[in-house]
Amino acid sequence: MAYSVEKEDIINIIKAGIFAPSGDNCQPWEIYFDGGKLYLKNIESKDTSLYNVKNIASYIAFGAMIENMIITARSLGYEISTTLFPEGENSSLVATLSFIKGQPVFDPLLNFIDKRCVNRKKYKPMQLETHARESLKTTAAQFKGAELFLIEDEEEKKKLAELLSVNDRILFENKNLHDFLFEHLRWTKKEAEKSRDGMSIESLELGLVQRKVFRLLSSWTFVRFLNMVGFSKFVPAQSYKLCKGSSALCLLLMEGTGFDSFVYGGRAFQRIWLTAASLGLSLHPMTGITFLIQRLRMGEDKGLSNSHRELLIDIYQRLKDIFPIENKAIIMSFRIGYADPPSDNSLRLPVQRVLIEGYP
Ligand SMILES: Cc1cc2nc3c(=O)[nH]c(=O)nc-3n(C[C@H](O)[C@H](O)[C@H](O)COP(=O)(O)O)c2cc1C
Repeated sequence: MAYSVEKEDIINIIKAGIFAPSGDNCQPWEIYFDGGKLYLKNIESKDTSLYNVKNIASYIAFGAMIENMIITARSLGYEISTTLFPEGENSSLVATLSFIKGQPVFDPLLNFIDKRCVNRKKYKPMQLETHARESLKTTAAQFKGAELFLIEDEEEKKKLAELLSVNDRILFENKNLHDFLFEHLRWTKKEAEKSRDGMSIESLELGLVQRKVFRLLSSWTFVRFLNMVGFSKFVPAQSYKLCKGSSALCLLLMEGTGFDSFVYGGRAFQRIWLTAASLGLSLHPMTGITFLIQRLRMGEDKGLSNSHRELLIDIYQRLKDIFPIENKAIIMSFRIGYADPPSDNSLRLPVQRVLIEGYP
């Protein structure tokens, strides 16, 4: 078979791909290379969270991976042609990438692929600079059907912060969501380096006392006990403050509701995140609630209690009053702003653990 892409180049393209973000850093992928094409395969068992309804959180992560790969391939002189769901939307094969040799095209965002990271710190009380706001909007507009909303007005931010932070209450009242989070927390450097997935406890940016309490909260029995005295109702206060205190709360929508909209939306999101990094802006996805709403919309409300269903219906209504989300894929809600660097970065599985030679 004629090799359309050099082995060394393909390794660099894959390395860039796996820098992509994924829910709780679960890295739900396997990458196959048959000498000519790359095949991106979703490993469903890696993300069994209720948030990942019909794999849409993973599809967003795949979109981010594809964007990283495209930027890197161009810099190496390849155009990538992407086919999404070549075996249909029910197959685990998310995308096939073919390479066409051409001239190298340098994209300034290339330099931020390995620098972009989530920052869960408190952000500085600063307004977005005009050129930053414009750059983010321009980036979103490069993707047909994408709409990026930046909420900067204090009163509007409070309204949205209240809706988004309800996620943290549900997280501590739902065993699946609770267990998935705690299974992905790495408590020591050694643990993080061994697994090379999940999130280090440092990256959650908790205070000393909060961190000690968090360890105890890994026990669902203990959380249930605390909830008898109303613990979960107090949890959203922290996220609410973080949201309210950021320069902007953002929502990214994509036209359509098919799975391809989530992959394409993931590409747009990654480009927005890379642009934010290039502008010195920190970014923190706070998007649990949008995935739970999509669970309801997709008629997949199993796993949610009646009271949570009612709560989510109410939040959905209130979100609809703010954003035109009907019949659109809700890709991501996140906060952005200016902050000190994060305390820790998440690790990735090495290429040899995700790359498989051959056809999937
Ligand atoms: C689809 C998706 C949803 C995410 N949701 C959240 C979230 O609600 N809260 C959060 O703190 N991080 C969220 N993240 C960020 C991931 O936890 C983060 O990207 C991952 O741990 C890897 O870290 P890095 O981005 O610093 O490389 C999300 C990421 C993706 C791709």
